[in-house]
Amino acid sequence: MLIERAYAHVASAPPDEWPWSVPCVRELLEDGLRFTAPVTFLVGENGSGKSTLVEALAEGFGLDSYGGSHDWRYASPRPKSPLGERVRFDPTAHGRRMMSDWAARKGFFLRAETALDALGREGVGPDSISHGEGFLAAFRDRFTRPGLYVMDEPEAALSFTSCLELIGHLNRLVESGGQVVCATHSPLLTALPGADIIEVGEHGTRRTAWSDLALVDHWRRYLADPRSYLRHILD
Ligand SMILES: Nc1ncnc2c1ncn2[C@@H]1O[C@H](COP(=O)(O)OP(=O)(O)O)[C@@H](O)[C@H]1O
Ligand SMILES: [Mg+2]
Repeated sequence: MLIERAYAHVASAPPDEWPWSVPCVRELLEDGLRFTAPVTFLVGENGSGKSTLVEALAEGFGLDSYGGSHDWRYASPRPKSPLGERVRFDPTAHGRRMMSDWAARKGFFLRAETALDALGREGVGPDSISHGEGFLAAFRDRFTRPGLYVMDEPEAALSFTSCLELIGHLNRLVESGGQVVCATHSPLLTALPGADIIEVGEHGTRRTAWSDLALVDHWRRYLADPRSYLRHILD
């Protein structure tokens, strides 16, 4: 685990303007966001601010908001967002060296929309493999160094079995001293033992147990009886 808190100080943050209008961003400015486990999942409804938050964390760490690894930022002079450029981190004892030296920072920002491009740059041949296979090939071969791995809905491209494999890779990253922050809607991924789950919403952020997550409850009930949901939609 490398970082135990993220925060940002911004001189002017008009509360009616994005991204300052997003409740979890306001909380980041006011209180910061604490990390208490090597894997943190961010869950919440569409539009709750998960992507805004993970992009800012990735940028603050020195990863390109477009997606890609620590090496890519040298090739891409994209300006940081007003939030991303203000994000700072409190390192753990273990993460102090990496956080004090930009060149020592390792990691990857995986976002569904740009993953194929980003992985192509990493030398994972996107032509010969499907989106999901590319994700997994990258994890198997390249995402091995301790670093900060930020992901935005990685399950979008993955089958059930591939999601299980992804959990194995996340666990391996953590065992090698890395850290993962992952926005997700997946009841499968969030079940990783020992992971921290943060619910993002109108309230800002709050820690929740897997078994108390609304998404887990919905999936359970839907799988037990799809019609209990579908009758409201299809009638
Ligand atoms: N580039 C942007 N400009 C303006 N508003 C944005 C932008 N990106 C996202 N938003 C708004 O910020 C809010 C949070 O969006 P987002 O972080 O994408 O949520 P999530 O990833 O949880 O679905 C939404 O209301 C969305 O419309
Ligand atoms: Mg999103």
